[in-house]
Amino acid sequence: MINIKTPREIELMRVAGEIVGDTHKYIIPFLKPGITTKEIDSLARDYITERGATPSCYNYDGYPGNICISINDEVVHGIAGSRKLCDGDIVTLDICACYKGYHGDSAWTYPIGNISEEKKYLLEHTEQALYEGLKQVKAGARIGDIGEAVQTYAESHNLGVVKELVGHGIGNNLHEAPDVPNYGKKNTGPILKEGMVIAVEPMINLGTADVYLLDDDWTVVTADQEPSAHFEHTVLITKDGYEILTKR
Ligand code: MF3
Ligand code: CO
Repeated sequence: MINIKTPREIELMRVAGEIVGDTHKYIIPFLKPGITTKEIDSLARDYITERGATPSCYNYDGYPGNICISINDEVVHGIAGSRKLCDGDIVTLDICACYKGYHGDSAWTYPIGNISEEKKYLLEHTEQALYEGLKQVKAGARIGDIGEAVQTYAESHNLGVVKELVGHGIGNNLHEAPDVPNYGKKNTGPILKEGMVIAVEPMINLGTADVYLLDDDWTVVTADQEPSAHFEHTVLITKDGYEILTKR
């Protein structure tokens, strides 16, 4: 069943989303060569906590970090540690916060210093793939409309669409129905209704779509070790379109 949020729930989700967007804005100036991923994780935890929220990822299925930090060929769920960011890296911060029981979720991939033309191409087109998906979102549209738009855009730019991980409904659970795949066929899947909230999150690879799980049981990496990018917004479905809750 796909939840329709009440006006009160939507208000709380606006706050949760704003905290997530603001956490991104707060962290960006710290994203420089030499900072460790653990330092980034702690900055995010402290900021989210000061805003009266909690980091939703912490202890989610036993996840050990406060946010997910994934570098270069890491697709999602990278765990913070002593690794330092280097000039030329790309780093994805996937930030989730829970405010009064309601979650916001947004991932963004950032360049560190000077990155290669290939990585610039990947970032530009993965961000655009998110907006291509979002263009489909409105009451009456179907989940497959989003997936087809993301897939068509990414594949026409010779990029690999990760299939093993998908977007999701979100509310008083971080992950709710429906799944929101980044592939599919128009006019298929659940119908979107006003008051639903979903996270749309293309995960796109510069090389092939294939990924695998590292021995830490969390970090997903590309099979060919080419870089991967991830752009995600939590959005409220409205009569004519959507409202981004994780504005930045
Ligand atoms: N934004 C991530 C997702 O939608 C949240 C993962 S939390 C974790 O999958 F604990 F699983 F890392
Ligand atoms: Co998500």
